[in-house]
Amino acid sequence: MKRKISLLLALVMVFAILTACSGNDTTSTTPEGSKAETTKGEETTADSGEKLVVGFSQMENNMPWRIAETNSIRAEAEKRGIELVYTDAQSQTAKQVSDVEDMIAQGVDYILLAPREAEGLAPALAAAKAANIPVILIDRAAKGEAGVDYVTLIASDFIEEGQRVAEWIVDNHGNSGNIVILEGTQGASAATDRQKGFTDYLKDFPNLKVLASQTADFTRADGQKVMENFIQAHGKDIDIVYAHNDEMAIGAIQAIKAAGMVPGEDIILASIDGQKEALQAIIAGELAVSVECSPFFGPIAFDVIEKLEAGESVDTFIKNDDRLFDGTNAEELVDGAF
Ligand code: AHR
Repeated sequence: MKRKISLLLALVMVFAILTACSGNDTTSTTPEGSKAETTKGEETTADSGEKLVVGFSQMENNMPWRIAETNSIRAEAEKRGIELVYTDAQSQTAKQVSDVEDMIAQGVDYILLAPREAEGLAPALAAAKAANIPVILIDRAAKGEAGVDYVTLIASDFIEEGQRVAEWIVDNHGNSGNIVILEGTQGASAATDRQKGFTDYLKDFPNLKVLASQTADFTRADGQKVMENFIQAHGKDIDIVYAHNDEMAIGAIQAIKAAGMVPGEDIILASIDGQKEALQAIIAGELAVSVECSPFFGPIAFDVIEKLEAGESVDTFIKNDDRLFDGTNAEELVDGAF
């Protein structure tokens, strides 16, 4: 009888332990249908031995720079055997917030977030924090405190990029002339900082005058349209175009040609990114300079994740080192450009 009671007690205990262990477990699946992770109570952890799952929230994927960035992240994830959950916010911050919320619901282990605008992502960052999922910002900044609202920002120094363009103009063109500026997306740190770096540098050169400055949303089509308007308003008074990215500079080159002027002779153009078509335009003598903004975030982003996995700390800002392309090196470097 005593043995029977002991056996019964043991069975009750085993049942209680099994119930307790399985009670709060939920298993989520990725869009591809593979098992992503297991949540246990409050704490979310990747099961040891299981693939790490990383969400990548891209803000748009419709131009060479963005496509190169996405490909870099995809390739590196694949190389390291990390499962990637990818979303494209299609240029809408509201969609980017819901994309991040979806990733959180799927239980990803980390989130790589490439913001469109600096403002508007606070709900996404707060939701990730509440779910204990580390967020790593890549490329552009988002409002919030590094080390608190997100782990780190991996990016180029956009202020420095603007300064380097202005410095190149002063050194190679001289310290007088009329400038028009094609700005990037309003509210994007890449636009705000590239404008600041450039205009701050020009404060010491009062004969380099900014005639007009307007957003063209980082796109080739808008770059062409806005440049057409600048030409209508200022015609042959324009000496220099500063475009916050290559796509807008390429659009401006088309507008200059359509107006019967010669890019590189009547008007010089300077921009940022270093995409292949820009280097080809430098070789053709149509674009003067492009300061590099590397889109190749894959290796560094996953290095950071692996450090965090190993319990190591990372800096709250990790700066990309960028080159500068002009007539002295474009030919040599064009084949390696994106
Ligand atoms: O944030 C970086 C910028 O975003 C790149 O210069 C540009 O081409 C892209 O739109």
